[in-house]
Amino acid sequence: MIETAVYPTVVFYYIYSVMLENKKILIGITGSIAAYKIILLTRLLVKEGAVVKIIITKAATDFVSPLVLSTLSKNIVLQDLSSNSEWANHVQLGRWADVFLISPLSCNTLAKLANGICDNLLLATYLSATCPVVLAPAMDEDMWKHPSTKRNLDTVKSFGNSVIDVNNGELASGLIGEGRMAEPEQIINYLKEANFRTTEFKDKKVLITAGPTVESIDPVRFISNHSSGKMGFAIAESLFAKGAEVVLIAGPTKEKLQFAGITRIDVVSANDMYATCMEYAANSDILIMSAAVADYTPVVIEKNKIKKKESSLNIELTKTKDILSALGEQKTANQFLVGFALETNNEIDNALQKLNKKNADCIVLNSLNDANAGFGFDTNKITILDKSGERIEFGLKSKKEVAEDIVSFIKSKLND
Ligand code: CTP
Repeated sequence: MIETAVYPTVVFYYIYSVMLENKKILIGITGSIAAYKIILLTRLLVKEGAVVKIIITKAATDFVSPLVLSTLSKNIVLQDLSSNSEWANHVQLGRWADVFLISPLSCNTLAKLANGICDNLLLATYLSATCPVVLAPAMDEDMWKHPSTKRNLDTVKSFGNSVIDVNNGELASGLIGEGRMAEPEQIINYLKEANFRTTEFKDKKVLITAGPTVESIDPVRFISNHSSGKMGFAIAESLFAKGAEVVLIAGPTKEKLQFAGITRIDVVSANDMYATCMEYAANSDILIMSAAVADYTPVVIEKNKIKKKESSLNIELTKTKDILSALGEQKTANQFLVGFALETNNEIDNALQKLNKKNADCIVLNSLNDANAGFGFDTNKITILDKSGERIEFGLKSKKEVAEDIVSFIKSKLND
């Protein structure tokens, strides 16, 4: 029995911060059928707390209504350099914005950007903008592949603008190919990643495991568990958003990452996960073992499907290597090692035993006895047990919020 009563229980509150909260985003819409996507994009940006202002070209008004856009953005949609004897202050707009997104970017406007042409408000704003400019082109495949488009794209990139890749898919012409503008969610992820990462974990290298492992019995059967990987993915994204370099080693999971900059390595078995962790461990500052690694694996993987014969079947299992313990053994003074414990009974005692035995710096405990917490749920309820004896209990929260709590805790424990 491990003594726990001497340590105070701290209830820790963390306000979940959103990357786009209060960020000022100026959208320039040009004449392309993809302009309809800006309705959803505006809605999503506003929902995430961004302040959105919109400039539209005359050609774009054929594709999307300024009334819809002004209603959703809660700001007047600007089109002309002057109206009702008032001059639209394009210089001020480009200074106001944290980022100027031109989306969709038509072939015509691209050519004008590349050549410094200034015959509308959008172009005047672009030429005077001091903020970063992000371009989301949209055009038919033949236009997209035309040498002049390639040359113009290279030119605008050389000016320091960044370009969001087009997708391959159904085009307005009815053809299928390259040139489809990125979807609103992709644009938002791009902006977050390219423009709005913070620096709390800058220069920190993070290794995270997530999801279940799958241990094959024969070509069609396996042993695994119900881990979804959601918790580890949310921690990886939170740390990446705060500037860390993140390597995520994921067991088989349906989860997708929103940031392309996270290095994701997919593995299947406990053995693969161990080997991959060992490859990256020495080069990592923060190591977070949130995967539900199988404790046992079949001694033999049958080459052929096991046929149904006897009334019972025994499969011999052997213990897998404990990744957290191995990392705990080789841990250096500058590394911070986080383990997880999923318990059904004697939760605190079991978690403290894991903390000590595996030489972790802290253990994140989830209890399967807490309603709506653990495998498969979008919510979780954790207690963090620290090697100094601190114990912090959190309430039931979304896994994204729990990730923020864990990341804030790690930050509070780093020496720098
Ligand atoms: N873990 C690991 N390698 C393993 C098994 C577990 O790295 N082969 C890690 C998990 O990623 C987690 C911690 O060890 O961070 C605790 O995992 P858990 O399954 O709760 O505990 P076990 O050590 O496997 O013990 P038990 O199953 O008996 O509770």
